[in-house]
Amino acid sequence: MRVLSGIQPSGNLHIGNYFAMMKRMIQLQEDHTLFCFIVNYHALTTVVDAQYLKENTLGAAMDFMALGLDPDRCFFWAQADVPEVCELTWILSNQTSMGLLERAHSYKDKIAKGITPNAGLFNYPVLMAADILLYQAEAVPVGKDQKQHLEITRDIATRFNHHYGETFVLPEPWIDEHTAVIPGIDGQKMSKSYGNTLEIFAEEKELKKKVMRIVTDSTPLEDPKDPDKCNVFALISLFLDDKEKEELAQRYRAGGLGYGEVKKMLFARMWEYFAPYRKRRQELADNLDYVRQVLKKGADKARAEAVKTLQLVRDRVGLNY
Ligand code: ADP
Ligand code: TRP
Repeated sequence: MRVLSGIQPSGNLHIGNYFAMMKRMIQLQEDHTLFCFIVNYHALTTVVDAQYLKENTLGAAMDFMALGLDPDRCFFWAQADVPEVCELTWILSNQTSMGLLERAHSYKDKIAKGITPNAGLFNYPVLMAADILLYQAEAVPVGKDQKQHLEITRDIATRFNHHYGETFVLPEPWIDEHTAVIPGIDGQKMSKSYGNTLEIFAEEKELKKKVMRIVTDSTPLEDPKDPDKCNVFALISLFLDDKEKEELAQRYRAGGLGYGEVKKMLFARMWEYFAPYRKRRQELADNLDYVRQVLKKGADKARAEAVKTLQLVRDRVGLNY
């Protein structure tokens, strides 16, 4: 099965990204044809600092590789190294109604936050549809925030297929219920753009500080607490097995367990969980040319797939004469 997903290099990657998407992709490489890429064109909708974009593109690639993605077993590249996706975006934008894009939550949320939208932000879902359809992906592992983008992709593909004849595979979103929405330290969805993340490869001191800042209610230490209403519990659960999770939930309900103690446990668990990957991450950081080489090789491989679809699409719409 063809499985595809992308991640924006718009900041340091965090455990929301890891559990909802990266870890799942790394597991899926074992028995699927995997397309995994760093969506640097998408990041242009919000990142205006060129150096920052370069560093984060390489940073995201190093994160994936350190965490176990094997570029020899999958397609792994930076989106803008296969510019054919822009041509498909243009073609698809002619099959996309304005209303469909006006209803996009991510666009509406950004406007609500006071961002003056540019056309790139408005067209973001069409570029994402092109990403997915260009590689004829059947499944797309994502967090819940991307559900609507997948619906838009399916809408665009359906409309195109209806008008020009069967061309695109309709992709299924793969959203895992346990990791659909991972909260940030302020209780909102964890996101690079909200400054509320626990970064996978944060410095020890910085991580500890952030964990201790996780927002909780003010139930006194000795009182019983509801684990299902606690952000710290939601976050530490990601690192616990079922038995450990149940034991901790019981301690919450029994009272006498303070949030501070659970925060210390969360920090220790998280630090230990990512420890084996930190060394590899550092080795890659010391060898950036190698990382660049991997991405360029991956782009060549991906491009060979992309041009097949694009030629078919150009035929269908009448651009090849
Ligand atoms: P961010 O919101 O931090 O910029 P991206 O938009 O690059 O993250 O998302 C990359 C992937 O990680 C997507 O599949 C997205 O759904 C998922 N993801 C990001 N944040 C979360 C979260 N807090 N909970 C669940 N999934 C998330
Ligand atoms: N919009 C996605 C996000 O913010 C990133 C993305 C771009 C993507 N193209 C994609 C995800 C294709 C899956 C498939 O998380």
